[in-house]
Amino acid sequence: MAIDHAFLDELTARNDIVEVVSRYVVLKRQGANYFGLCPFHNEKSASFSVSPDKQIYHCFGCGAGGGVINFVMRAEGLEFRDAVQFLADRSGLKVPQDQMDAGAARRRERLLSLMKDAGRFYYDTLWQPEYAPMQQYFARRGLTKKTMNRFGLGYAPDSFHQTMDAMQKKGYTKEELVAAGLAVKNEKGAIYDKFRGRVMFPIIDVRGQVVAFGGRVMDDSKPKYLNSPETMIFHKGRNLFALNLAKKTTQDHFILAEGYMDVIALHQAGFDSAVASLGTALTEEQARMIARYTKKVIISYDADGAGQAAAQRAIDILKRADLQVNVLRIPGAKDPDEFIKAKGPDAFQRLIEHSEGHNAYRLDQIADKYDLTEDDQRIAFIQDAARMLAAIEGAVEREVYLGRTAKMAGITPEALQVEVRRALGIRRKQRSNAEHRTVRAVAQNVQPRDRMLRYPDIRSGRAEEGVLALLFTEPSLVPVIIKRLRPADFSAPVLAKIYTHALELEAQGLPVSIAGFEGYLEDGELALLSEILSRPLTALEGRQRALDDYIEIMEERRTQRMLEQPPCEGGEDPMITFSKMKAEKMGGK
Ligand code: GTP
Ligand code: MN
Repeated sequence: MAIDHAFLDELTARNDIVEVVSRYVVLKRQGANYFGLCPFHNEKSASFSVSPDKQIYHCFGCGAGGGVINFVMRAEGLEFRDAVQFLADRSGLKVPQDQMDAGAARRRERLLSLMKDAGRFYYDTLWQPEYAPMQQYFARRGLTKKTMNRFGLGYAPDSFHQTMDAMQKKGYTKEELVAAGLAVKNEKGAIYDKFRGRVMFPIIDVRGQVVAFGGRVMDDSKPKYLNSPETMIFHKGRNLFALNLAKKTTQDHFILAEGYMDVIALHQAGFDSAVASLGTALTEEQARMIARYTKKVIISYDADGAGQAAAQRAIDILKRADLQVNVLRIPGAKDPDEFIKAKGPDAFQRLIEHSEGHNAYRLDQIADKYDLTEDDQRIAFIQDAARMLAAIEGAVEREVYLGRTAKMAGITPEALQVEVRRALGIRRKQRSNAEHRTVRAVAQNVQPRDRMLRYPDIRSGRAEEGVLALLFTEPSLVPVIIKRLRPADFSAPVLAKIYTHALELEAQGLPVSIAGFEGYLEDGELALLSEILSRPLTALEGRQRALDDYIEIMEERRTQRMLEQPPCEGGEDPMITFSKMKAEKMGGK
């Protein structure tokens, strides 16, 4: 956002979206647009479109959309700034460093340096003689000093201000400590250390910078782990614990574990490709990050029910990133850390070698639910397994597992085939219903996909979208629209936000195009905008008329909404004050 708009215009002009997207997606021309298979979700029919005129992409299937910068952000897993740099490098442009830009960059630098110093402080604290029990905590858990150093483990003293004091002494302000998530501000405005009396795990990004911390209690108190909040330099869905180390592995696979301790124990045992998502479900972005370094992932989650359920979800996400997925099961231990401690690295290596493909794993998971010696349970198993088999995309693979399942159930493959065909039929029907629904939803577009952006007034929202579509595509109408509408005339907050920014661009003499909105709008907002711009537009000669109609609908709906408001008496209720303001405005017109 801090990057100059004029530069972004130049950048997008030099990086044609069709050309950039073509490096990731096979595109075919169809009328004014190009179509291909969406790289952001799994699909069979091409619902991903690119418009060379508007320089936008939009997927009618998953709803993703934006301009060329947003595309690169998603395809390469980059932050806005890095995507801009990526495109600049590609087209031989130099990213300008304006003052705002420099300000934000300096703040980032400060936070990064603060995190590094805090990591150093926690590390030094751990090795103070008085904290020998904390050193022993790690030793008791089997970590060598070398491992502790490699991961930069530390200890946050049990105090409300010691970390803060140490960092302030180094010249950081309290505000910076809060911004970095190292200190917390309560309702009364008091600021105090967030991490107290916890052993500390630095979270290091791919570039080797400390961006966050996880802190663990040393007893059974709750919460067991406390993690840094999202900050200017830390987005937990876009980081993986130990990726900075794992990216250097010579193994042909990554091991995906659940916990910090699992990853550390694995690395110490020589499994240097282990990573973990940061205490939450694996995200699509994390899967894409992994896919940049390897083709194959072995999921090694906890043995309990929660771990296995999480593994099932992770399989889908990793498959969508085109990764080959195996699942490893840990017999007789809670997690990889405990297994290695009990049975040693060689035993774990054998688990890796015997890890199953995700289909075999799923089949076993299903079989575990039933007692196959009982007839009625066997029938239930067959139906359950048939659904899973029907979901396997490749015919050959499906055939293999069909044979295996038939054997497990003690029936002929032919008999099972009948069940699978039925399940396939149901599946196809469900899918075509779903596709039908998508098309209908696009046709009427009841509400934006992103629930946060829901329109308070759908009919007015529809008209407001129409106005924006004209604003972006019909330059001759821009002065007319600006004269007739103010941001407050838009009932949908997201559309008002877009309109406000369009006015700002216009005032700076810049074209109202998607380039000016990338990095300014949130992902969901940008996707909505590209969806609006992807719809067919009224024929040229009908556009002025269309604009009149839209504005008329907006006015009509505004009056309607006013009438629906309860009559105003008191002054406390914000809704009433709101409707009063509107009434005054209407009267003034
Ligand atoms: P220990 O072996 O008990 O030290 O932990 P672990 O590394 O095996 O982690 P566990 O399997 O209990 O949990 C997996 C991951 O989930 C941890 O590494 C944390 O990232 C996260 N996690 C666990 N407990 C909590 C919690 O109480 N709060 C938060 N925010 N995250 C947690
Ligand atoms: Mn554990």
